Amino acid sequence: MLDIYTLGEEILREKCKPVKIFDSALGMLIDAMFTTMAEANGVGLAAPQVGVDSRLFVVDIPDFGKRVFINPQIIETSVELSCAEEGCLSVPGLWHDVTRPASIVVQAQDERGKAFTLKADGLLARAIQHEYDHLNGILFIDRLDEEEQEKMLKAWEKRAKRRVKG
Ligand code: NI
Repeated sequence: MLDIYTLGEEILREKCKPVKIFDSALGMLIDAMFTTMAEANGVGLAAPQVGVDSRLFVVDIPDFGKRVFINPQIIETSVELSCAEEGCLSVPGLWHDVTRPASIVVQAQDERGKAFTLKADGLLARAIQHEYDHLNGILFIDRLDEEEQEKMLKAWEKRAKRRVKG
């Protein structure tokens, strides 16, 4: 299991680099990310969350299953928006409604470098957009308005103090 980096760590704010080599080391990283995500009860996990500054993420969504997205690009977003609660393994314990396009089309590569295109809506579309944001150093709390964001950061600081104490 890999360590999950949390809010405040520099790597979560970096723009990640494209994956160029599709080798066994990449396969091992992907396996470890799936294991770490399952252990943490997450539906998505991006490489920077485990300290790797590469453009890839994994998801495991009911009725869709496990899939890795390498060098993803969101090439279409719907005008229709959807609002639902999100959390993040890098901001544990905090949840908030986030508004995003309801459906998307994403292009990416699999673990062998093979390109695929996928149209997604519902939870899958939300998870892909959330994880894609991680590759550009964006967290879900950045998608909230200023007032909501401040509340979230205050709640985070409170929790951080508690973590240090015990
Ligand atoms: Ni996240």
